[in-house]
Amino acid sequence: RPRVLSGIQPTSDSFHLGNFLGALQQWVPLQDEFDAYYFIPDLHAITVPQDPKGLRRRTLRAAAQLLAVGIDPDRSVLFVQSQVPEHAELAWVLSCITGFGEAGRMTQFKDKSAKEGTEHASVGLFTYPVLMAADILLYRPQRVPVGEDQRQHLELTRDLAQRFNTRFGKTFVVPEPQIIKGTAKIYDLQNPTAKMSKSAATPAGLINLLDDPKVSAKKIKSAVTDNEREIRFDPANKPGVSNLLTIQAALSGRPVDELVAGYAGKGYGDLKADTAEVLTEFVTPLQAKVDEYLADEAELLRILSTGADQAREVASRTLGQVYDKVGFLPRK
Ligand code: TYM
Repeated sequence: RPRVLSGIQPTSDSFHLGNFLGALQQWVPLQDEFDAYYFIPDLHAITVPQDPKGLRRRTLRAAAQLLAVGIDPDRSVLFVQSQVPEHAELAWVLSCITGFGEAGRMTQFKDKSAKEGTEHASVGLFTYPVLMAADILLYRPQRVPVGEDQRQHLELTRDLAQRFNTRFGKTFVVPEPQIIKGTAKIYDLQNPTAKMSKSAATPAGLINLLDDPKVSAKKIKSAVTDNEREIRFDPANKPGVSNLLTIQAALSGRPVDELVAGYAGKGYGDLKADTAEVLTEFVTPLQAKVDEYLADEAELLRILSTGADQAREVASRTLGQVYDKVGFLPRK
């Protein structure tokens, strides 16, 4: 079977709606057709300072949320990156074929380091995309389901795979990003031209899956729209309204056009109330499931440990071939 692989960082107590609609929503059905590898990149998380207790808690919460959205450990390999040492090992080899300038062109690094000042950004933040390439290439997936903001990292991954293959002989599969057109970029509710992100300027623009649905409903009701009255899908001119339509369509499974037709003669208040309702219906059972998984930490740890064993089988085979090709002596 063809493979897919993807990851989501444990950098917050809750995933947000952008994570779910851009990425996780496609991870679940891919389990039917693909050999799926899904993981929690905690090595990536420490590229910016993390409180150790908080990181451990958020890693477990991330696992619980993945299980709750429908990642099934009997059909997918679900694991934590730091429990599979091959990720860091391959990242080193790949960093030696990555150009300094090439890494410096990654826009996510430029954005993140601009906030703190390049002087304070860690070297880990700079080499972050190389570790991400290692995450992917170790498992030789054909597809990597992500949101739009990961596209450039996937390009680098493809370049590194091709470069290694050319220099040392065919080793890696060159993966394709799989990006859902309609929901590749969910926008901040208060600033609907910026992507929804946990580092948003104001928490009012961010919908966390595990927040009290009443709080999220309020945020939707105060979402920034525009001065017109007409409900139509027009991201360039009506980013706020279009974002709400996208969210409601994705969560309800109804096409945007059908929603728009239903709003003829209605106002933004109706659009917001319906979107808030659909969100509440979605997160309420999800939160109950997350709580159930979190209540049994031993079981969570067991699932992740099984996943790490399965991941290592694949990862160590690829790494062994890489080490051999670059000329390292065989290891035990
Ligand atoms: P992360 O943890 O920031 O985000 C997880 C996934 O959510 C998507 N996403 C969005 N999609 C739509 N709209 C948004 N506003 C939005 N915000 C986030 C992201 O595109 C992503 O798919 N570098 C990765 C983690 C990673 C990884 C990997 C992914 C590490 N190694 C290997 C794939 C393969 C990241 O930081 O995603």
